[in-house]
Amino acid sequence: MSIIAPSILAADFANLKSDIEIINRSKADWFHLDVMDGVFVPNISFGIPVIKAIKKHATKPLDVHLMIVNPDRYIQDFKKAGADILTVHYEACTHLHRTLQAIKAEGMKAGVSLNPHTPVSLLKEVINDIDVVLIMSVNPGFGGQKFIENTYNKVKELKDLIDSSKSETLIEIDGGVNLETGAKLLKSGADALVAGSFVFRSEDPENTISELKKL
Ligand code: DX5
Ligand code: ZN
Repeated sequence: MSIIAPSILAADFANLKSDIEIINRSKADWFHLDVMDGVFVPNISFGIPVIKAIKKHATKPLDVHLMIVNPDRYIQDFKKAGADILTVHYEACTHLHRTLQAIKAEGMKAGVSLNPHTPVSLLKEVINDIDVVLIMSVNPGFGGQKFIENTYNKVKELKDLIDSSKSETLIEIDGGVNLETGAKLLKSGADALVAGSFVFRSEDPENTISELKKL
């Protein structure tokens, strides 16, 4: 059964509590929270105070996707805010192995995200240290972008790497996920799907989550 993580980036920020409740009562597994700093990506989203506020109402794990430079500086703060899974970008970490250990030392699951141009093979030496690999299927920074088709190849390649290293790492995909791309991603070996606009721009987000869950 796949993991579905609706992205709050596409929610109504003026009615966040009601969108959180939709996810709580839906079949979704995680809350996907996109933190953008305007430096690593060309957009600014929300940060620690908003995550803290979400944590008060969310009944499911918080999957926090950091699109920020120097993520090491804030690991403890995100733990305190309520993150359960903390994902950093490969491209933002000079000492990725150390960063992963620091995230796990705080009792969180450690994730690594790859931009569309970053090859899966770069994770070879740390794959056993990673709980979740988040493959970006759009360039990070904005919701509602077009899915990049090469992602399917990356998922297959990552699945091979995980199997051959006998690791338990989950494969999560972020960007342009809908029923069509979602089905193909799961077939290629993905375990978890992030969906923002497809869920929150739909007429009935709770039902859309059920449809994704059925894939
Ligand atoms: C993009 C974010 C995504 C975004 C996905 O940088 O990481 O999580 O919310 O949005 P959709 O599903 O609309 O492509
Ligand atoms: Zn994301």
